[in-house]
Amino acid sequence: MDGNGRWAKSRGLPHIAGHREGSRALRRAIEAAIQSGVSWLTIYAFSSENWRRPAGEILGLTGLLRRYLRSEITELKQSGVRLRFIGDRCRFDSDIQTDLEAAERDTAVNTRLNLTIALSYGARAEIAAAARAALEAVRAGCLEAGDLGEDVFASFLATAGMPDPDLVIRTSGEQRLSNFLLWQAAYAELVFLDVLWPDFDHAHFGAALKEFSRRERRFGARKD
Ligand code: IPE
Ligand code: MG
Repeated sequence: MDGNGRWAKSRGLPHIAGHREGSRALRRAIEAAIQSGVSWLTIYAFSSENWRRPAGEILGLTGLLRRYLRSEITELKQSGVRLRFIGDRCRFDSDIQTDLEAAERDTAVNTRLNLTIALSYGARAEIAAAARAALEAVRAGCLEAGDLGEDVFASFLATAGMPDPDLVIRTSGEQRLSNFLLWQAAYAELVFLDVLWPDFDHAHFGAALKEFSRRERRFGARKD
């Protein structure tokens, strides 16, 4: 979800106003996913690197997160959304950590849309943590080093049990993954949209799905 700052700047508004509008775009994206029958949606809301932003912006963002968790959960629950969070949640204030756990617990029976929100998430940190966990398992005698193949390794990632993404959409015209799901997106189709995140709507979601449907996926194999 990129482009909140540019959206705000172009209107002479403070950066946080872009983040606030971005949370409305998130609501639209979730609706669009449900309407399109997409059953797994992962949102990159805040990266481990975003902690380097000015303290005022961090405060604004964590405030928005707090409000989002309090105001949206009931509706998400009713819409059949199951929430999960990936990333280093220990870096958030303890009341937020409690709300994250409650949101996961309260929506755990839902199956219509699996919504994962990446918060304080970085793929390299996730992979390093998985390597440490796998080493621990070997040291504890629960795992043979020779059995540590791709699938076993993936089971140590934060996304264990989740399917790999088929499509990654990045907004704002930037063409980078920025440390998002680096392991999981190995064969994802990448779609870069020239729209600032706060302007993202159902039509952009539909256009990305249409572009995805035109791609020919071979997963390294040959077609003939
Ligand atoms: C993305 O918008 C939202 C977060 C990183 C939380 P930006 O804040 O990166 O917006 P730009 O890139 O400055 O336009
Ligand atoms: Mg940005």
